[in-house]
Amino acid sequence: MAGQEIDGLDRLVAELQDEANRAAQEVYSPVVIEHALQPRNLGSIPEPDGLAIVRGPCGDTMAVFLRLDSTRIEQATFLTDGCGPTLACGSMLTTMIQGLSLEEASAVEPADLIKALGGLPPENVHCAVLAVTTLQQAVAHRLKDEAGTSDKTGEENHP
Ligand code: FES
Repeated sequence: MAGQEIDGLDRLVAELQDEANRAAQEVYSPVVIEHALQPRNLGSIPEPDGLAIVRGPCGDTMAVFLRLDSTRIEQATFLTDGCGPTLACGSMLTTMIQGLSLEEASAVEPADLIKALGGLPPENVHCAVLAVTTLQQAVAHRLKDEAGTSDKTGEENHP
């Protein structure tokens, strides 16, 4: 009896998952879905060379951590409490900037990220803007550190 209930529950969960997957495929590109389900570079870096934490207009937050090898980005990671597309944005952006100089990384624009993701629906463009803004703040934080003027937090709200 209990086994049948568990089977039924498992089937219901599987059906709901299938339905959610079909709905997501109608809205998001395969690249977005793949990066949202299996985000790369998710996590923090202890004592990073660059760090920023930015809250977007939707109230979600992203953090970007940078480890530098002289002037190049050796490792970039991120954390977010945001939506699936934000996970995809952080994943793709941190992948795109590996090996770039700080100047090259800060030149990446939301449109570049959206293109790499195979597009985003208009209501998720702000997720890409949040990711890119956080990266730019992490780079700025690093440059302030080099100049000896950093406040060491790198945290701010993004209007
Ligand atoms: Fe807030 Fe995506 S909905 S960052």
